[in-house]
Amino acid sequence: MFTVEELVQFAKTTGYIYQGSEIYGGLANTWDYGPLGSLLKLNIKKAWRQKFIQERIDNVLLDGPILLNTKVWEASGHVAGFSDPLIECKKCNQRFRVDKLIHDFDGTDSDGWSLEKFEKYINEHKVKCPSCGAFEWNEIRAFHLMFQTYQGAVLDKASQVYLRPENAQNVFVSYKNVLRSSRKKIPFGIAHIGKAFRNEITPGNFIFRTREFEQMELEFFVKPGTEIKWFEYWKQFAMDWLISLGLSKDNLRFDDHKPESLSHYSNATTDIQFRYPWGFDELWGIASRTDFDLTQHQNHSGESMEYLDPETNERYIPYCVEPSVGVERLVFAFLAQALTTETLEDGTTRDVLKIHPALAPYKVAVLPLSRRDLSEKSQEVYHELSKHFDAVYDETQNIGRRYRRQDQIGTPFAVTIDYDTLKDNTVTVRERDSMEQVRLPISEVAKYIEERIKF
Ligand code: GAP
Repeated sequence: MFTVEELVQFAKTTGYIYQGSEIYGGLANTWDYGPLGSLLKLNIKKAWRQKFIQERIDNVLLDGPILLNTKVWEASGHVAGFSDPLIECKKCNQRFRVDKLIHDFDGTDSDGWSLEKFEKYINEHKVKCPSCGAFEWNEIRAFHLMFQTYQGAVLDKASQVYLRPENAQNVFVSYKNVLRSSRKKIPFGIAHIGKAFRNEITPGNFIFRTREFEQMELEFFVKPGTEIKWFEYWKQFAMDWLISLGLSKDNLRFDDHKPESLSHYSNATTDIQFRYPWGFDELWGIASRTDFDLTQHQNHSGESMEYLDPETNERYIPYCVEPSVGVERLVFAFLAQALTTETLEDGTTRDVLKIHPALAPYKVAVLPLSRRDLSEKSQEVYHELSKHFDAVYDETQNIGRRYRRQDQIGTPFAVTIDYDTLKDNTVTVRERDSMEQVRLPISEVAKYIEERIKF
């Protein structure tokens, strides 16, 4: 696998991802998704929507606002408790997330520890500042992760709002409206795709941990007592989705949380981890959230969140199982897995991004063999194919170099227009990984490609 630096370089030179606000020296930890990266993100969301919503009888989509009534975050527990333990070195003033500091020190998993327990561990094990080596720490404090802003013209306490730190609460607060209007019956799910914001203490590793990111979350509501069965179901469903899109089983694993490290609202949680360049790390969180959130919102809003089972007449607050994944972590994983350098039979090498065709930014490149004589016909072909999927047109440099460029950015098919095309309306279609070529009538190309990009 490539290093993070190599991946950053690849992403920048090809047009997948650039540093945000670069001409002003950048803004730490922000990224622009370029012509290729923006399409890759869209395709990841499309593939998720297809399997988690479109092909399902039980799930529907919701699109809620980033700004919510502050009472939502009071009810969910975020105002009181959404923080990370922060420690600062007195000597060099560097700040660290204490759980990460301890993990990097000796691999200890400190999920669920109190500030006092962190303090005791740091002192007993003499954990030093990784930056300057000193053992002179300020007191550990809880660092709040929610971004705050103001709504309206008056900048006072009453107009303070938070940027959502997760999508899930959008679903819980609209749960009753969706239930009523969609006439769904339990078990059913409400999915949400959207930006989330967290003022992370230690963002980094390229796009792995950022302060602004996009989540795809499914809140799946079930009858109490059946949640562990559904938890197991969505664990496997999420894993299968990743594998069907080309991630290798060897680079994926489940990391089940121990009972003592579960969040207060969860009775089972697992992470699907991916083997990033620095080792296995969280890609996708799957949690059985019990009835915690709906109960909290019922208590705080006064609105009943109960479900009346139409068959048994039982009333209950549904339990919730939640697979939640970050789009950028998927971008990272799919790029890291797909980036390949191959040695060909003639001894030369080529860089190929072997990304699943359903995710590839462009499905086809349209390449005229001669710019002088074949541009017009080629542009006709481009306009025909681009009605079906994203295509790219390239008429500069020799054909070999243009194939290499498309291989490098992951375009699964290249269509070459040559002099015979003008006579018989056929073109050559070349496949990225095998480099095999077939000759097809122009009228059959879209169907040929469509059949091969399905997933
Ligand atoms: N609603 C549950 C929830 O938000 P989480 O484990 O905090 O759970 C879910 O986040 C997923 O969101 C993670 O597994 C990861 O893919 C993504 N994610 C969380 N924080 C992130 C960050 N700072 N940068 C990028 N992705 C992040």
